[in-house]
Amino acid sequence: MIRDERFALKGNIIYAADREKLTICEQSWLVCEDQKIEGVYQELPERFRELPKMDYGDRILIPGLVDLHIHAPQYAFRGMGMDLELLDWLDAHTFPEEARYENLSYAKRAYQIFADHLRAGATTRACVFATIHRESTILLMDLLEKAGLNAMVGKVNMDRNSPNRLRETAKESEQETIQWIKEVQARGYQNVRPILTPRFIPSCTDDLMHALKSIQVSYDLPVQSHLSENPGEVAWVQELCPQAEFYGDAYDRLGLFGRDCKTIMAHCVYSGDREIERIKENGVFIAHCPESNINLSSGVAPVRRFLNEGLRVGLGSDVAAGSTSNLFYAMACAIRASKMRWRLQDDSEKCLTIPEVFYLATKGGGAFWGNTGSFEKGYEADIVVLDDQRLVCPNKLDVRQRLERIIYLADEREVYAKFAAGKQIF
Ligand code: GUN
Ligand code: FE
Repeated sequence: MIRDERFALKGNIIYAADREKLTICEQSWLVCEDQKIEGVYQELPERFRELPKMDYGDRILIPGLVDLHIHAPQYAFRGMGMDLELLDWLDAHTFPEEARYENLSYAKRAYQIFADHLRAGATTRACVFATIHRESTILLMDLLEKAGLNAMVGKVNMDRNSPNRLRETAKESEQETIQWIKEVQARGYQNVRPILTPRFIPSCTDDLMHALKSIQVSYDLPVQSHLSENPGEVAWVQELCPQAEFYGDAYDRLGLFGRDCKTIMAHCVYSGDREIERIKENGVFIAHCPESNINLSSGVAPVRRFLNEGLRVGLGSDVAAGSTSNLFYAMACAIRASKMRWRLQDDSEKCLTIPEVFYLATKGGGAFWGNTGSFEKGYEADIVVLDDQRLVCPNKLDVRQRLERIIYLADEREVYAKFAAGKQIF
């Protein structure tokens, strides 16, 4: 294990500085200093000769993957209820499970499994929904901090259209949120931070949203939520907010849609022209969650259009609507979904490519943290070392071909070593 502030790793290095092209440096050195990437070198320069070194041989080094949208309490029922669509799935599976996190000993067991799996996989950063429960949310944050992962975690806010056990009053939700933030600040985490998490418009009254906006301003917090995922949900929001021009406008009127507050919106499958324009204008990040959108028959988001228009997009696993936190699988699903959109919906939108989905899962989502998700100089030293020996092939493959197979076939078994912000996790 490397425990130094400066070190050099050798292997086959791959990253995507822009979305059209993979940079591949075979048998090269990756030098890290002060938790940042110092540079990539074919030969290790003289001035770095004394650094602690690790030669990973023929293994592949990539930036740590970034999950822009995952629900920790839903990890327990992955793979279940996948024959329903969004609103029925929430009622039948999600809400009953999330209600259990009031019980701390249950939360501890369930969140430990989640944290262990996230730690073992290729994800180094994640934006995580917890539940409405303050104490179990803090417990989750403790576990992620201990696992060494970089996470933004949200206590969820819900004060309407939810079962009794998962419904707060606006006042309670506000008070619990403030108390949660204060307790989190007092814990002095290094890697874990709070993010405001109104579940979605149907679960939150305007009173609650106004209170959250003032908390957002007072504590300068980012925000995460859901947007335009499913036709029934979009129609419901229109009924609930007749004054809003479109779904995203309902958040924007409340000051919780980018601009002065960093925001991630998951899905955006049904975002129309005006919503897309507002997302762009306000600098909102989109978490594209292709597997979830297939499983809940939500649809396929127009990611090609998002990219062409210069929107900020990353990938989300959206467990448990997505069955796995494995972001390689999310990358493969993003390509598959784009092919179905091209075939069935709009053949003017080209399918996503390997470099593009790799970019989305690294630098695209990493941009929510700043300089994260690439091996360019000054980027956070989030590094995953992959050993793909298990994926046997009778042919000699080049490094790029090996990455393609990793995207379609790998899981945590291929993760050989992992560093987040310059610290080796294993
Ligand atoms: N919309 C509101 N809550 C949820 C959730 O838990 N999962 C998904 N996929 N969409 C949602
Ligand atoms: Fe979600």
